[in-house]
Amino acid sequence: MSSNNNESSNKQQQNIEHADLLTKSLILSHEDFEKISTLLTKEFDRGLRSTKDSIVKMYLTYVRSLPNREEHGRYLALDLGGTNVRVLLLEFHGPPSLLSLKSSQRRQQQQQQEPKKPPIEIIDSSMKPIPTEIFHGTGQQLFDFIAEFIVEFALRNKLAGVRIALGFTFSFPVVQQGLAEATLVTWTKAFNCPGVVGNDVVRLLKASLKRKTHHSIPFIDVVAIINDTTGTLIYGALQDKNCGIGLIVGTGSNACYVEYLSKIEKWPFNYSDPKQVVINCECGAFGDNHVIDWALTNWDRRLNYESLNLNKQIHEKLISGMYLPEILRRCLLTLIELGIVFEGKTPIELFRPYSIKTKYMSFIDQDNENDENNFPNTRKALADMFNSKNPLFKNGFSDSDVKIIHMINRRITKRSANFVANALWTLAIRIDNVDVAIAYDGSLICLHPYYRSWVEEKLNEFIKKTGIKKRFRLIHANDGSLYGAAIVAAICYREKRPKFIKKRGKIYEITRF
Ligand code: BGC
Repeated sequence: MSSNNNESSNKQQQNIEHADLLTKSLILSHEDFEKISTLLTKEFDRGLRSTKDSIVKMYLTYVRSLPNREEHGRYLALDLGGTNVRVLLLEFHGPPSLLSLKSSQRRQQQQQQEPKKPPIEIIDSSMKPIPTEIFHGTGQQLFDFIAEFIVEFALRNKLAGVRIALGFTFSFPVVQQGLAEATLVTWTKAFNCPGVVGNDVVRLLKASLKRKTHHSIPFIDVVAIINDTTGTLIYGALQDKNCGIGLIVGTGSNACYVEYLSKIEKWPFNYSDPKQVVINCECGAFGDNHVIDWALTNWDRRLNYESLNLNKQIHEKLISGMYLPEILRRCLLTLIELGIVFEGKTPIELFRPYSIKTKYMSFIDQDNENDENNFPNTRKALADMFNSKNPLFKNGFSDSDVKIIHMINRRITKRSANFVANALWTLAIRIDNVDVAIAYDGSLICLHPYYRSWVEEKLNEFIKKTGIKKRFRLIHANDGSLYGAAIVAAICYREKRPKFIKKRGKIYEITRF
């Protein structure tokens, strides 16, 4: 090997060691996570006492019943939470009005109809990206756009003249006064439409629907509003009766769980059956009171400082797909400035905030730490991210650059998975059952090659270190946010349904929609 080659490989080794040292702050020890779990428990307790005096709000969702496969009929679901709006028409094939049958007939029918799979049929679904001008427009423009979209969809499905219940998934922090009343507290993720915060979003949707409908149009009854985590949990409960937690790790992040009313000091009603309710934790706000500032790196701090929502959603900023690539970008800029990566020259693409796409992080993580193949995915991702005409990359990417980028990418995604596992653990120990099924969804956890297994690994570490007996089952509740909304609408119907009258010895059911 020539002395030039030797020099270059020494320099590359030095760069790797230097980068390793500088980004160690992205690695938190298990003891750190135990401390973070204790802090989170305190916030959960505070939230269950009072929404006003807490950071992690633990919102009451008023969803108290889970699906029992007796749901029946057609329902609409609407989902708003990311860059698209989605609508779905579902039919549930649970047993029809069993109580209107004689008990022997009822038993016979129940046995015949015992379904093996969730008895759901998708009639139609549609998705529309929210145009930029609507995204940056007023709340009224946003809801009018959504209403127009639903009406179009309803007409396509020949629902004119039909009364149909709709479940609305709205994935932002809301205070609910009932199942179909929800005041937006703050926008999160990239949303910021004026005129919505402080208002009941169900009323806004209903007003827009009224504006966009006329006599020949269906009567769409918005019967419930839920969070995407709640939808995911509800959908998971159809698959596993032990499902106690709903989790989303996508553009945003959050979790919900089923809690006993007796453990919720702020529960405003009596403790009638069912004695439980789904709590939307809004745990993305954990850390907004600075209790985990010690765990943040300077890159996290700068990201927060320059974000749309300063000092809000700190936990979410450490976890979700919207922010992880931005942490990576900021980290890279530091290493470039110190001459450790890209010979100290910044490719122009990296100057623009939020310019790295989340999908690249999943792709890069597919390479292995001690990759004999020389990190092929990382090389491909970099080639895709940067202009190939940049003279800096005319000979491709140096081995040390690739290794360093892979290393910090993985540190960021793994830290995110550890924070998620930590939140799940902190919730799971509040649940009496040893067996806890967790329904999850979201682009990051679903599309990343190892994210889910890292979450499971960390949960097992918690079991081992604490000696607390728990068995976890992670269920992918694909599109649970959408299905969940329809299921909740169907549950509302199911719950209201047992209304009967007896006439001349016969039982008749009165439908209340
Ligand atoms: C919102 C939550 C939502 C989560 C996942 C967060 O930004 O505040 O309500 O559940 O994103 O979509």
